[in-house]
Amino acid sequence: MLRAVIAVAACAQVTIAFSPLGAAPSLRRANAPALSAQGKQRSGLKLGNKKSALRAVVESAAAPAKEKKMGRGVLKARPIGVGHAAPQSKITNSDMEKIVETTGEWIQTRTGIENRYALKGKETLRDIAIAAGKAAIADAGIKAEDIDLVIVATSSPDDMFGDAPSVASGIGVPKTAFAFDLTAACSGFLFATVTASQFLNNGGHKTALVVGADALTRWVDWSDRNTCVLFGDGAGAMVLTSTETADEGGILGFEMHSDGNGYCNLQLPYQQADRAVGPEHHVLEGDYEPISMNGKEVYKFATREVPDVIEEALANAGLTTADVDHLLLHQANIRIMEIVAQRLGIPMEKVIHNLEEYGNTSAGSIPLALSEAVASGRIKKGDVIACAGFGAGLSWGSTVMRWG
Ligand code: UT7
Repeated sequence: MLRAVIAVAACAQVTIAFSPLGAAPSLRRANAPALSAQGKQRSGLKLGNKKSALRAVVESAAAPAKEKKMGRGVLKARPIGVGHAAPQSKITNSDMEKIVETTGEWIQTRTGIENRYALKGKETLRDIAIAAGKAAIADAGIKAEDIDLVIVATSSPDDMFGDAPSVASGIGVPKTAFAFDLTAACSGFLFATVTASQFLNNGGHKTALVVGADALTRWVDWSDRNTCVLFGDGAGAMVLTSTETADEGGILGFEMHSDGNGYCNLQLPYQQADRAVGPEHHVLEGDYEPISMNGKEVYKFATREVPDVIEEALANAGLTTADVDHLLLHQANIRIMEIVAQRLGIPMEKVIHNLEEYGNTSAGSIPLALSEAVASGRIKKGDVIACAGFGAGLSWGSTVMRWG
């Protein structure tokens, strides 16, 4: 008997047992918490306070050293250029005060965010992905024709069939290349970087463009203050080239994880309903519902898992936190960055952040911050950058890169 597991809201899993001869499927529901709890959970706990940060440091000090894992160390791939783009339309925290019951002070102190940008008019996600890609190619000093692989990491494509081929064509990448989308929410850019680097490491491809682009302002509920103040639209892109030897490689180590048991804590779910088509048949039809997030749980998950995964990636690279010149985390919350940095014993001066200006741009956030830091001269050739992404899935991962 065939089985398909389909996900419905709130981590419930409905297992449909399909009869091979088309008998009516029977539904079996497991562990379904109340749907109404989504994105609404409250707690008086002050995360990020001194006590919890101290506890985190103590826990971290007691944690065993990570083992180096075979095949997750240096790859023969080197980042050589980066670029970014964001829409024109800026939404400030004062603007948010006119949209939902919030204050600029709350948003700034609880998240670090001051502004975000949103697509407007005829702007599309492809537009900013293409602009970021072109900027990265110019920064790398190569031509679009040199690219033979394009991965667009996004959870909010213009076209559900995938934006990567049209982004590649819009940039001028020839059809000798292949392009595809990769969806891993806010971890997407790093998952895509590792994926592209594997192709380069294998020697079959020479130059890859990895784009992280999202437009989550399309998918937030603008009446939900828990989420709408957080997200903005933006894109970043990075060019990687294959290297002859591992010694020249710039992807020094990586580690990636996912845990679908926590998927209900952050989702953009498809909701379907029965629709009759013709006299005899029914299909399931629907649409995506706005983002719902249990912020507290995602916060706890991020502060628990991100230090660990960075240590794992560093161990795979044969490095320690002392070797890290820059810590670059997904730009979700400045308090998460503070706790992660503290747990790793990395001073805040080494933490790159620009969420003040862009908010959380999901897959766009890491390359967007990387691009600004390279453009400003803060990141220099040879610098070691420990990056980590985390978010829906739940998914999380870290890549340690040597720049340039
Ligand atoms: O990109 C994917 C990864 N995402 C993340 O990493 C997000 C992780 N989570 C967070 O960053 C934080 O949990 C949030 C920023 C989302 C929320 O911060 P928090 O300190 O966890 O706040 P909370 O959800 O516990 O809410 C505290 C209070 C609540 O009021 P009561 O129940 O204490 O009266 C909320 O209703 O703050 C209230 N609140 C707001 N107040 C003003 C929630 N959102 C707002 C708001 N303005 N925008």
